[in-house]
Amino acid sequence: MNDIGVIGLGVMGKNIAINMMNNSFKVAGYNRSYEKTEELIKENHENFTGYKMLKDFVNSLSIPRKVFLMVSAGKAVDAVIDELIPLLSENDIIMDAGNSYFKDTNSREEKLKDLGINYFGVGVSGGEEGALKGPSIMPGGEKEAYPLISDILEAISAKYDGESCCKYIGPKGSGHYVKMVHNGIEYADMQLLAEVYLILKNNGYSNIEISEILDKWNKTEVESYLVFITSKVLKEKDDKTNNDLIDMIVDVAGNKGTGRWTSIEALSQEYNASLLTAAYQARIMSNEIELRKDLSNKISKEQGEKLDVEVLRKAYSLAKSVAFAQGFGLYKDASEKYNWDLDLKEIASIFRAGCIIQARLLQEIMKAYEDGTKNILTLPVFKNQLVENSKDLRKVVLSGVQSGLALPVFTSALTYLDSLSSELLGANIIQAQRDYFGAHTYQRVDRDGFEHHNWSEE
Ligand code: 6PG
Repeated sequence: MNDIGVIGLGVMGKNIAINMMNNSFKVAGYNRSYEKTEELIKENHENFTGYKMLKDFVNSLSIPRKVFLMVSAGKAVDAVIDELIPLLSENDIIMDAGNSYFKDTNSREEKLKDLGINYFGVGVSGGEEGALKGPSIMPGGEKEAYPLISDILEAISAKYDGESCCKYIGPKGSGHYVKMVHNGIEYADMQLLAEVYLILKNNGYSNIEISEILDKWNKTEVESYLVFITSKVLKEKDDKTNNDLIDMIVDVAGNKGTGRWTSIEALSQEYNASLLTAAYQARIMSNEIELRKDLSNKISKEQGEKLDVEVLRKAYSLAKSVAFAQGFGLYKDASEKYNWDLDLKEIASIFRAGCIIQARLLQEIMKAYEDGTKNILTLPVFKNQLVENSKDLRKVVLSGVQSGLALPVFTSALTYLDSLSSELLGANIIQAQRDYFGAHTYQRVDRDGFEHHNWSEE
C-alpha cells in the first residue's frame, strides 16, 4: 500500500513526490496525461508507483487515503475532485496544494465535508527547488483531521533550526489565504528590488555593480532570498549574445493572479495594503506597452540627486518592513473577520525557510508577536527604523520623483508612513463635501454624535 498519492506530475508535483519519496514515504503517482507518469516511472524511484487508471491509484492508498493535488488552480481542481468523490470513502483526505483562491477552497471544503471527506487547502511556497528540497507549507482545514497528514507535510517541509516550516494554519481556506498574502508581500518586495535597480541604474551603476551592492546588502538586516536571487539575475550572461541577460528581457511583467486576489481582498476588508496593491498595479502598468511607447520621454524629468548607496539600503529596509507589516496586518484583520484565530507568530515562523519571502526580518516579526504586539510597526526595532530611516526613504522618493523614475512601492511606503504620522489627513474636507452633496453627516471635534449642516446655498 502507498502512504500518499500525488495527482499532477508537472515540475512542482513531480518534485514534491520525489521529496516525499526521499523522506521514505511510499508514493502513488497519477497524471491526466500518462506520459508524465511514465517519465517518473522511468526514473526508477524505489518508493514510487505510477498508475494509468485513477481507480487503481486510489485503491493503492492506505486508509485513510491521502490524495495530494498539484494541479492548476480553478476548474482543474473541481474536475479532479469530482472524479475522486466516487472512489473515496469517509475520513479520506484531499489536499489541494495549488495556488487556489481561498473562497473556492471554502466552498470545496464545505461540499466534501457533507460527504465525510476531509479537504485541506495547502499553501506551498518555494517554487520548484522548494518543492524538491523543502517548501514552506500552510495547511488549512479541519484541525481534528490535521494529525492524519501532519507527519508527511512536516517531514517534507523546509526546516529552520531543525523546526518544520509547516504548521497548521486554521480552518477552511485560511491556508490558501495565508499563501495568497505571502504572494502579496512577495510582489511588494520584488517590486521594491526592481525599483532599487532602476534607481542605481539611473545613478550610473552597471548590472554587475548593482549585483555586488545587493550581495553586500544581503549581509545586513535586509538579508533575504529575494535580495539573493536579484543579485544573481543581474550577473547572469545571455548565452545567445553574451550580453547581460537582464538587458535582453522585455520590460513587461506577468502574473498568475495571487497578487490581484491580495489587492481585491485588502480593499474588500477595508485594510490598507497599499504597497502590496501598488506592486500588483506596477505589473499591470508594465503591460501598457502602446501607451508607454506613445508617452515615453514626453514628461519633463530632471536628474535627481545622486543617492548614497547606504541611504538607498536604509530606505529599502524600511519599505520592506512596511510591506511585511501590511501583509501581517492583513492576516490579523482576516483572522478577526473570518474568525480563523490565526497564530501570526506561527505564520512568521514557517516563513523563515523554504518560501520566497524568507528573510532575516521574520525573526523580529516572530519575536514581536511572541510579545503580543498588535502591529509590528509599533515595535522598537521597527519604530527605530521609522525614526532613523524615514529621512532616507524621503530622500529616495524625492530623488526618484525628480528623475521621473516610476517608484510605486517606495512612494507608497512613504505616503503610508506620512498618513500614519500626520495630524491632519484632510478627511474633514471629505466629510464636509459628503455632507454638502449627500447629507451624509460628520462628527465634530468638540462634542459627540453626528451632525448634518444646512450648507448656505449662495
Ligand atoms: C511561491 C511563488 C509561486 C508563485 C509563482 C507565480 O511562493 O513559490 O509565489 O507560488 O505563484 O511563482 O507567481 P506570479 O505569477 O503570481 O508572480
